[in-house]
Amino acid sequence: MKQKKIIIAITGASGVIYGLKLVETLNQHKNISTFIIISNAGKKVLDLEIPNWKQKFSKYNLYSENQLEAPMASGSWQHNGMVIIPCSMATLGYIAMGIGNNLIHRAADVCLKEEKKLILVPRETPLNLIHLKNMMQLKQAGATILPPCPNFYTKPKTISDLINQLVAKVLDHLQIEHNLSPRWGDKKLFKNF
Ligand SMILES: Cc1cc2nc3c(=O)[nH]c(=O)nc-3n(C[C@H](O)[C@H](O)[C@H](O)COP(=O)(O)O)c2cc1C
Repeated sequence: MKQKKIIIAITGASGVIYGLKLVETLNQHKNISTFIIISNAGKKVLDLEIPNWKQKFSKYNLYSENQLEAPMASGSWQHNGMVIIPCSMATLGYIAMGIGNNLIHRAADVCLKEEKKLILVPRETPLNLIHLKNMMQLKQAGATILPPCPNFYTKPKTISDLINQLVAKVLDHLQIEHNLSPRWGDKKLFKNF
């Protein structure tokens, strides 16, 4: 099977564990290569939320936000989608305005112009009108807005269950098979329905 290439960007919003879990899950597939960009603010949030993050990411293909010469900055480089997880309101705003002044904004801008899959996992609450308008603009431009909103009918018991649920949804949208989280209709879970 042809190797799939997925770009994962981690920005300075809370919930960087979602990004790490997506990276770890994709790297278990031997037919998938990941290309990971971490923003400067993302590194600060990683320091706070996952103190040993540098060791956890050390075996992967990492880029910093100012490496504008990286392959994903060009539309001629072929890949199978980009996920910004978590996506700060700052990054969301830059992309919505078409300002490609770091590698994450530029790679996202390229996804939209080349009509490639772009998934944003925004993390902020409550949302102001500017956030909402930016999300609408991005949706209209072709992006998928996939907020981390857990369901409770699958009876999550741990934080890990909640993280898996979100990452499972992202994988569904990338059309990558997984067994991370139960689905509605799963006979063992929903035997009374
Ligand atoms: C600990 C911490 C948590 C933050 N959480 C959020 C958040 O959940 N959502 C958000 O939009 N910004 C959050 N911010 C603010 C962003 O990090 C800030 O706007 C930054 O400029 C984003 O840059 P980036 O999009 O290039 O990563 C947080 C900042 C810190 C230090």
